[in-house]
Amino acid sequence: MSRIITLGNELLKNQSEIVTEFDKKIGEYTENMFGLLVRYNGIGLASVQIGDLIQVFVVSIPKDKPRVFINPEIIETSLEQDVYEEGCLSIPGINADVTRPSYVKIQAWNTRGRPFTLQAEGLLARVIQHEFDHLKGCLFIDRLHPDKKERLLNLYNKKNQKGK
Ligand code: NI
Repeated sequence: MSRIITLGNELLKNQSEIVTEFDKKIGEYTENMFGLLVRYNGIGLASVQIGDLIQVFVVSIPKDKPRVFINPEIIETSLEQDVYEEGCLSIPGINADVTRPSYVKIQAWNTRGRPFTLQAEGLLARVIQHEFDHLKGCLFIDRLHPDKKERLLNLYNKKNQKGK
């Protein structure tokens, strides 16, 4: 099973590439990602977090089916926004309130290479936007005020030094 890379790894700042091949492998690949979600007790994971710069992310939130998004595009967002406390498996131990649109419409492909459109709100919309950001090289802390981001980075570094 793959390992999840964490803050400090430059890969997390990179743009992911479009997936062009839809064979059996992509299904096995996303199954592995769901396995990691269970293992790390997460609700969303993007490929870049396991070191692969491809436009894939998976979402698994309570009371919903597991969902795979390949080559996603967010095609609509609401003006209405929500504040919600986010975390990230690549920034363990750090949480912060992030403001994002409360509704999104997303277009993506499934593992069989078929396109679909999904309208999401609540937690699902939240996780979709967080994971979509990963494909652009953006982390949730990048969406915070620079002062707040710096405070969190200092806290993260302190915590990590203690662990060593
Ligand atoms: Ni994340």
